[in-house]
Amino acid sequence: MSRKILVLNGPNLNLLGTREPETYGSQTLDELLAEITRHGEKQQVEITGFQSNSEGDLIDALHEARTWAAGVVFNAGAYTHTSVALGDAITAAQLPVVEVHMSNVAARETFRHTSYIAPVCLGTITGFGATGYLLAVDALVRNVIDAAK
Ligand code: DQA
Repeated sequence: MSRKILVLNGPNLNLLGTREPETYGSQTLDELLAEITRHGEKQQVEITGFQSNSEGDLIDALHEARTWAAGVVFNAGAYTHTSVALGDAITAAQLPVVEVHMSNVAARETFRHTSYIAPVCLGTITGFGATGYLLAVDALVRNVIDAAK
């Protein structure tokens, strides 16, 4: 199994740092990815980041990840709460995916309490800001990559 993880970010997450910093923090997406990459390196894991505001591009990225990634850390943004197609793509890709949300979606509006991807993910980490991505990498390393040794 490869030691490669795709960190996939959905709509509006390109605006991290300036978007509602009281909810999503002041770190930019590039800074966040650099932190996740450093975290991965400590565990000999290679991180590849991809962000898109388009549902179709996210689906294509999941399909393509099947050919090279051991797992995916996925913050699907608002598509989490609307997209049957992303849930189907995760099932189709047959890849272990950890769902991440920076904010605690359970403590926010009720429409954010529904996730179309949670049932097909390994698990969900929500409410820990940037730390959630690091925890998700750890979960994939421990439960998937190292567990396959
Ligand atoms: C989010 C939560 C979603 O409800 C929201 O639409 C986002 C970001 C989070 O990281 O907390 O875009 O996924």
